[in-house]
Amino acid sequence: MNRLQGKYALITGASQGLGRQLAIDFAQEGAAGISIVARNVEWLNQVRKDIQEIAPKTQVLIIGADLTKHEDIERVVAATLCEFNGHLDILVNNASSIGPSPMPYLLDYPLEDFRNVINTNLIAPFLLIKKALPAMIENGGSIINVTSDAGVNGYPGWGAYGISKFGIEGMSQTWAAELEDSGVRVNWVDPGDMNTAMHRVAEPEEDPTQWANPADVTEVFIYLASDESRHVNGQRFQAQEENWGQETQTLAIARSALPFA
Ligand SMILES: NC(=O)c1ccc[n+]([C@@H]2O[C@H](COP(=O)([O-])OP(=O)(O)OC[C@H]3O[C@@H](n4cnc5c(N)ncnc54)[C@H](OP(=O)(O)O)[C@@H]3O)[C@@H](O)[C@H]2O)c1
Repeated sequence: MNRLQGKYALITGASQGLGRQLAIDFAQEGAAGISIVARNVEWLNQVRKDIQEIAPKTQVLIIGADLTKHEDIERVVAATLCEFNGHLDILVNNASSIGPSPMPYLLDYPLEDFRNVINTNLIAPFLLIKKALPAMIENGGSIINVTSDAGVNGYPGWGAYGISKFGIEGMSQTWAAELEDSGVRVNWVDPGDMNTAMHRVAEPEEDPTQWANPADVTEVFIYLASDESRHVNGQRFQAQEENWGQETQTLAIARSALPFA
């Protein structure tokens, strides 16, 4: 509790699924303000109500935006910084599109769908980081990009989605290397299989109850958003693996670097 006390966060794709749960859990951890972004404003309103019930002190800003649009991205960052008086400590690039369903092979992949997925899943995080960075560099901060197993394995049919996640893994490594010693850290998390709208659309023939609930995978995100991880940069985490898929040493070093560890 209170691991995010006083922190300001921007979470994309927070109208449902993992993003919604992250917003709720960050608020429960004492975040001072959370900017929640998605296209469906009605659902964002519901998320705000859910947050206000459990964490009435957390300031919640709703931003209806289509992240495939450059002007919407600019508005998201500007509105967030305006509401939070220029403060931003945490950026979670979570919003993603799975693309057409059933998922076509690349040979049959429509160009417009391909562009839409890459714009949402890769170009939007690139632009959001670029635009948020000046505010984050001032006080240090944490950027968390959401990836997938499909970002390290080329599964047939996972087309533009998988390619966008390969992209976000590479982009995260590059940002992390370029920002080393800047005070802003960049890490990326594969949440693993979750029972969400996206996964139900991607694999409609599977039983979704075999997959984790978003609430089961948020601990690593809280860790990465909190000061406990402030010496962790350029790392890939797997939310459902033991030690989040990390060498225990990495976590131990990060923890021992804390003055109170
Ligand atoms: N579910 C899994 O098993 C799984 C596994 C590995 C990785 N992941 C990753 O986990 C993250 C969250 O996925 P999820 O399963 O929670 O998906 P989800 O429930 O379908 O949620 C996706 C979110 O992205 C938002 N979004 C999509 N396109 C957008 C756009 N153009 N502009 C703004 N917002 C947009 C959606 O909001 P609107 O529709 O309201 O815009 C929604 O809030 C994604 O990065 C995904 O790749 C998921």
